[in-house]
Amino acid sequence: MLETVVSGIRFSNPLLLASGIMDETADSMIRISKSGAGGIVTKSIGMEEREGYENPVVYELPNGLGLLNAMGLPNPGIENYKNEIKNALKGGVPVIGSIFGKDAGEFLYLSKRMEDYGVHAIELNLSCPHAKGYGMEIGVDENLVEEIVNEVKKSVNIPVWAKLTPNTHKIVDIAKAAEKADALVLINTVRGMAIDVDARVPVLKNVYGGLSGPCIKPIGVRAVYEVYRETQKEIVGVGGILNGRDALEYIMAGAKAVQIGTAIYYRGVGVFHEIASEMREWMKKNKVSKIKELVGIAQVR
Ligand code: SIN
Repeated sequence: MLETVVSGIRFSNPLLLASGIMDETADSMIRISKSGAGGIVTKSIGMEEREGYENPVVYELPNGLGLLNAMGLPNPGIENYKNEIKNALKGGVPVIGSIFGKDAGEFLYLSKRMEDYGVHAIELNLSCPHAKGYGMEIGVDENLVEEIVNEVKKSVNIPVWAKLTPNTHKIVDIAKAAEKADALVLINTVRGMAIDVDARVPVLKNVYGGLSGPCIKPIGVRAVYEVYRETQKEIVGVGGILNGRDALEYIMAGAKAVQIGTAIYYRGVGVFHEIASEMREWMKKNKVSKIKELVGIAQVR
């Protein structure tokens, strides 16, 4: 009923772990695999070990609106990540290796290492909203996006996913620049900040962060809808999915799978099983036997 195929990879359900939460160590990734996720995306891994920013790195918005975070791409570095991947693969679900680099050369090197480690696909982080020289700084430039995607595609034999930023007015142009990617991942967090009024300073040490959670869902759904409409590419939707109806919204906009991140903070690791059963329940009630029947169904012709 929920099985889906993205870039030739079969997932038992369309609910994948989003990059950046509980995905730095094999143990936590296996825990998520055993909690009902259809697939796992690793923490974004770079050329060298990075500590990330100083605290505070996360701020919870009031009224369940979401989270603001600026971790600073902390990671152990690609050379130290081999065993985590090897062990994470024992979780029995596809593992997608997320990487970030400062240019095509770094992306290419990281992709090849990830491929050697055995991941099922690569996710190019072209969208972190606050790390100097990385992510969105590259991902808003169509020429750089095209160069990186094309170079990586030429060098690896596994599918390449490009995770794009919502922090632009030209997401369709950027998606078109990434046309050689096997799938697009939409969206990464929305650049934002918060100020502690009593202390009279920004809340996050890095000042700027990325907003996730329910408040960004309409931005994500719009991005998926718009890009699917203009490109017909395979899309993985992400941003603010908290329940089965949220996931269905993304699928009806055009996504073949979705990623779950902040919902783990709100609902715990059982959220994958819970969202899957909420989706099944809706499908039974509405006499839909396969999730693929719903992909893009809300597109107004
Ligand atoms: C972080 O590590 O600060 C977030 C990474 C991202 O948004 O891509």
